[in-house]
Amino acid sequence: MLAAVITAFGGPGVFALDEIAEPAPGPDTGIVDVTLAGVNYADVHRRRGEHEQPPLPAVLGADVVGRRRADGRRVAALLPAGGGYAQVAAPLRRHTVPVPDAVTDEQALAVLEQGLTAWHSLHTLGRVDGDDLVVVTAGAGGVGHLAVQLARWAGARVVALASSPSKRAAAVELGAHAAVDSRHPDLGSAVRQALGAAPTLVLDSVGGETFERLRAALAPFGRIVAYGGASDVSTTVAVDDLMTASTGVLGFRLQRVLDDEEIFASSAARLFHLAGRGVLRARIGGRYPLGAVGQAHADLEGRSTTGKLVIDVHRFG
Ligand SMILES: NC(=O)c1ccc[n+]([C@@H]2O[C@H](COP(=O)([O-])OP(=O)(O)OC[C@H]3O[C@@H](n4cnc5c(N)ncnc54)[C@H](OP(=O)(O)O)[C@@H]3O)[C@@H](O)[C@H]2O)c1
Repeated sequence: MLAAVITAFGGPGVFALDEIAEPAPGPDTGIVDVTLAGVNYADVHRRRGEHEQPPLPAVLGADVVGRRRADGRRVAALLPAGGGYAQVAAPLRRHTVPVPDAVTDEQALAVLEQGLTAWHSLHTLGRVDGDDLVVVTAGAGGVGHLAVQLARWAGARVVALASSPSKRAAAVELGAHAAVDSRHPDLGSAVRQALGAAPTLVLDSVGGETFERLRAALAPFGRIVAYGGASDVSTTVAVDDLMTASTGVLGFRLQRVLDDEEIFASSAARLFHLAGRGVLRARIGGRYPLGAVGQAHADLEGRSTTGKLVIDVHRFG
């Protein structure tokens, strides 16, 4: 089978198309003939060798949609250990879910990894309700554009952050009440102005200065859910400061959902249901051939993309 393989950590140029052996099925894994693979920001961190370093050579890629070889059923699957940028994948059976007819391959890919992240950050941890004033960082991105829609669906007032006018327009088109430049020099004042009051709930995927400014802008009793660190700056929080401000900081990692078969299956089915009904509109920001995974990474880390990026593993150039 063909795969986009890395033999070293580094920039987007480290990917090379290579013919490698298909993964072998194991007692807990099944074979999936992949149609589309997804690109996630976590793949950028892995490609750079940050936080965790898979053994080399490695095939990155954490989400796929395709046909289960055992029964031909259309399925989507998550691959926390990688293996997605390839024509065949071997996900754990418990991380593989059937895709309903009403949901396209692209939608399924868009709402699985990123939708689960948006849902659990917003609902399970953030406990969003219709009175909330919500800020979503990277509000036109893969997770963010779904979080904007889910927050709006929950009845909240929503402000999206994004770094370009076209991304801000995309976030508003998807349901944000307003959008603010993510590079605004006085981010706290800008989001307060856009919301009409201090935010009560922030979803943050950026970390560093963005996290600090938004945490400082929170209303008393507000909370911030940290689920990513695109700025690559790690952040520590002093509990004394939380007591003084009477605000909360929560953290989310998708692996905790994958650890629980029932939560994973039920929340994936809910997201597919919302996508199938058109409540959740997945935006496909780019479709790349397998030979252009590096370009997809360059576009993602260059902050020029919106929505979900997908890789067509049967196109090569
Ligand atoms: N906790 C989990 O288990 C989990 C699961 C999935 C994803 N995530 C995290 O969620 C975040 C979003 O993932 P995604 O795949 O949907 O990516 P994405 O949001 O489509 O792309 C990343 C966005 O981050 C923003 N950004 C802000 N500062 C940046 C910087 N210094 N460099 C690059 N981008 C920067 C950019 O938006 P603007 O240019 O518009 O500001 C960029 O478009 C990532 O941090 C990812 O690691 C976490």
